[in-house]
Amino acid sequence: MAKHSKVANNANITNNVKTARIISVASQKGGVGKTATVTNMAVGLVSLGYKTAVIDMDAQGHIALSFGIEKSNLKKTIYDVLIGEVKMRDIKQTAFGVDLYLSNNSLSDLSPKVMAQLNSKQFPTPKYLLRNAIGQIRTRYDYILIDTSPSNDIPTMNSLLASTDIIIPVLPEGLSIDGIFDTLILIKNIQEQGAKVNVLGILPTMVQDHTNLHHVMLQDLRKRFAETPDIKVFDTVIKRAIRHGLAQTHGEPDIKKAPEYLSFVKEVLAIA
Ligand SMILES: Nc1ncnc2c1ncn2[C@@H]1O[C@H](COP(=O)(O)OP(=O)(O)OP(=O)(O)O)[C@@H](O)[C@H]1O
Ligand SMILES: [Mg+2]
Repeated sequence: MAKHSKVANNANITNNVKTARIISVASQKGGVGKTATVTNMAVGLVSLGYKTAVIDMDAQGHIALSFGIEKSNLKKTIYDVLIGEVKMRDIKQTAFGVDLYLSNNSLSDLSPKVMAQLNSKQFPTPKYLLRNAIGQIRTRYDYILIDTSPSNDIPTMNSLLASTDIIIPVLPEGLSIDGIFDTLILIKNIQEQGAKVNVLGILPTMVQDHTNLHHVMLQDLRKRFAETPDIKVFDTVIKRAIRHGLAQTHGEPDIKKAPEYLSFVKEVLAIA
């Protein structure tokens, strides 16, 4: 465990061995700030002394970009781990204090490979490949964050089934809010498959609260979920700000420039 590592509030401790909380950031809707949330949460957790890893389960490979790493130069990725060719330790990179298990376009080959009837003996449980891979590293971290793609593909199923918790980012706009319900249905589906995964909450992102639309939609969102006490809308909201977009494209995450994300991390730490 790292020198500065703290014990997470609710960290699972089995036989005195700490095991990480595993949080997927997921939404069936694209462009809602999943990758920005994972990136900023990770550097936020590190700034508070938590040993943190990020796993990129999206073939777009945007976590590499967000941490200033060229995804096309990656020799081996999470894909190679999931198909059993290498171990997690073989692909680990560290940037801005975060251990990264990166992906790129190769992850698109996962579904055809592991779902093929021909390969069913080699991959008898194709939706649990990530859970098994995380088993190699789980005791090393307080938090493992997973970035997912806006779909219910095999990488996303692997992510949700490997997670202890899920955060759903949402833009306070009609179609994005609808995306929450698709995501909740998917989560219910995997809970019915026996996964013990908990929805930590819904995070409003890219909020422009000076606009009437966002203001009204945010109120509406809070009202709607006030009636479902098991699903929380976080108090913190992430504002739309050019600096967030620039941090991502420049590959220089900096929690000092994203104070709302630090507040969000603290809100998460209070419950996870
Ligand atoms: N708070 C913000 N303010 C302004 N721009 C933002 C903010 N958060 C993210 N962005 C930008 O918006 C775009 C979408 O964000 P992001 O990539 O995090 O979404 P995503 O949900 O991961 O998308 P995808 O579904 O494609 O994976 C990116 O260009 C990102 O830099
Ligand atoms: Mg993304």
